[in-house]
Formats: sequence, C-alpha cells, structure tokens
Amino acid sequence: MARFLMITATSGTNRELADIFASTAIAKGHDANVVDLVEMDLPMFTVARSEDPEETPDISALVSAMSQADAWVVIAPEYNGSIPPTLNNALAWLSTTMDWQSFRALCTGKPVGLATHSGGGGAHVIMAMRQQFSYIGADVIGRACMSGRDKEANPETIDAMIDNLAR
Ligand SMILES: Cc1cc2nc3c(=O)[nH]c(=O)nc-3n(C[C@H](O)[C@H](O)[C@H](O)COP(=O)(O)O)c2cc1C
Repeated sequence: MARFLMITATSGTNRELADIFASTAIAKGHDANVVDLVEMDLPMFTVARSEDPEETPDISALVSAMSQADAWVVIAPEYNGSIPPTLNNALAWLSTTMDWQSFRALCTGKPVGLATHSGGGGAHVIMAMRQQFSYIGADVIGRACMSGRDKEANPETIDAMIDNLAR
C-alpha cells in the first residue's frame, strides 16, 4: 500500500483528472489525497513577502501532506507553453518557507508522475514540469498522462503510472 498525493494546479478539468488518479489509486488498495492549489489561494511569491512574517502564508498542511506521501502525481494545464502560475508559485513558497536542507529532503528521490488536461496536447507543460521536478531532485517517471480537448486521458496510462509509482 502506497500513500499518494495528487497535486492539481487548477480546479477544472485538471481537478477532474486528479480525482481520477486518486480513485484509481484507491481502487488498487492505495491511500490517495488530492490537494488543489487554486483552493489554497496563495499570495504571489515575492522575496519581500517571503521576508515578512505577516505576509508569509501558512503552508504547513501542504508540507506535511507532501512529506507523508510516498509519491506525488502533479496535474497541471499548459499555460502559454509552460507551467501555470499556481504551481510555480507553490514551489517558490515551498522552497523558501523551509531551509534548503529540508526542501531538499522533501523532494529528493520522491517518485513523481506528471499529467495534464490542456487545450492542445499538453506536451510543453509535461516537458516543463519534467525539467522542474527533476531539478528539485524528484524521480520523475517516464510515462506521463496527456489529455486535451480532442483526447481523453487513457485509463491504461493512469493504471500503469499508479503501479509504477507504488513500487
Ligand atoms: C492563460 C492561459 C494560457 C493557456 N495556454 C495554453 C497553451 O499554451 N497550450 C494549450 O494547450 N492550452 C493552453 N491553455 C488552455 C488550457 O490548458 C486548458 O483550457 C485547460 O484545460 C485548463 O485547465 P482547467 O480546466 O483545469 O482549468 C491556456 C489557458 C489559459 C487560461
């Protein structure tokens, strides 16, 4: 049994995809939670805000959900050929709210799967997330789930990704 955290960057079709990943994991006997970064409504990261305790958001619940999970699936739409601001913003807060050793410990070796529901194919956001999550030390699996206006998410891909991440 593995503990999954599905991290969705938006609350529409990507939230729906996150819920499908969670229900697939649960049907396979795993534990799964979904965190919606839109619902968190974090202020935009700036260095000035990060240095002002009154302006720094409390992200302790996110940190503990991420550290308790054995694997993350990150689900995000493509925005202008890259990562949407909610996800980048959350990573900026995560990397500054704790010291770098703790951030490194949170991310290093974490099995991560990537998924998207985008207007087009979503290949660019998958590449951008692969680069970013590899950079922060995660073990990003090769297979990714891409869906869009003209392409449904492939259930076999979701199944295989859950099995791979749970190992
Ligand atoms: C600001 C913005 C930029 C976008 N840029 C792209 C893009 O570069 N490529 C693409 O395929 N879709 C793009 N889209 C479409 C979204 O990826 C698509 O609508 C996605 O399904 C939205 O996810 P959601 O339903 O979870 O909100 C963009 C949408 C917005 C709002």
